[in-house]
Amino acid sequence: MEYLPEELATYIEQGTIDDWLGVISSGKEARVHLAAKGDGLLAVKVFKERNDRSFKNRADYHMAMMPLHTRAARAMANRSGYGKALEDGLWCQREAETLGILAAAGADVPRVVAHGCRSIVMEYFGTAESGASRLSDLRQWLPDARGCFAAVLRNLGLFLECGIVHGDLSPYNILYHDGRPVIIDFPQAVLIAASSAAEALFERDVCVICEYFRRQGVASDAGRVAHQLWSRHALRRTLRERTTEGTGEGP
Ligand SMILES: Nc1ncnc2c1ncn2[C@@H]1O[C@H](COP(=O)(O)OP(=O)(O)O)[C@@H](O)[C@H]1O
Ligand SMILES: [Mg+2]
Repeated sequence: MEYLPEELATYIEQGTIDDWLGVISSGKEARVHLAAKGDGLLAVKVFKERNDRSFKNRADYHMAMMPLHTRAARAMANRSGYGKALEDGLWCQREAETLGILAAAGADVPRVVAHGCRSIVMEYFGTAESGASRLSDLRQWLPDARGCFAAVLRNLGLFLECGIVHGDLSPYNILYHDGRPVIIDFPQAVLIAASSAAEALFERDVCVICEYFRRQGVASDAGRVAHQLWSRHALRRTLRERTTEGTGEGP
């Protein structure tokens, strides 16, 4: 009999889930569980406790997210016990918030059902037998690689509209479910308004995706794709700012 993780036990007590069915994936940063709720299934991502996790963009993340919370930022920089606990919760909260914003904007990301300071209960993609394949797992050619590429780019455009860059996009973080891509794994997403590295991270994300689809037979010029999406986003933002200035609305 496997040991029931504490977070899952709490979600069962609260009625968020009915039952724990097992582990879908156990990675370096988090373990993802399968849970039953009513007639359906949910995924529960539980972050690892220690922050020996190897997130990239860590320094940039702190600068982008923590300008006002100086005590918290200092504690995290010092790696104090308090800082570590805060940081553990921060990654998780950041992912939950980001998923919420992007789902509301119509992006193809899992819907968040609930979250705690170290775990997220979210929409599950897959069957009772196995989780949806990641693009990186697919051995065969994608049936509609061109359509899938277009869907991923549509999502990247939506992310930009929300002022967000994924920052760790790759075929490992895209599920393929019912013929469409679902983008996951957002703890290191950055806010464009708060991160000087956002554009470079975006270009990297686009490059990785273009390279994957090139191998799937869909050629593209990654630099051009990134530039077009980014400048469209910049233009929309400028127009929006002008409109709010004109009406006297906005912050
Ligand atoms: N909502 C979900 N539905 C189905 N499988 C998921 C879901 N979220 C994550 N997974 C599975 O768990 C794995 C790890 O999740 P991810 O969020 O990428 O965390 P990490 O890469 O940090 O371990 C994914 O590669 C995927 O196989
Ligand atoms: Mg991942």
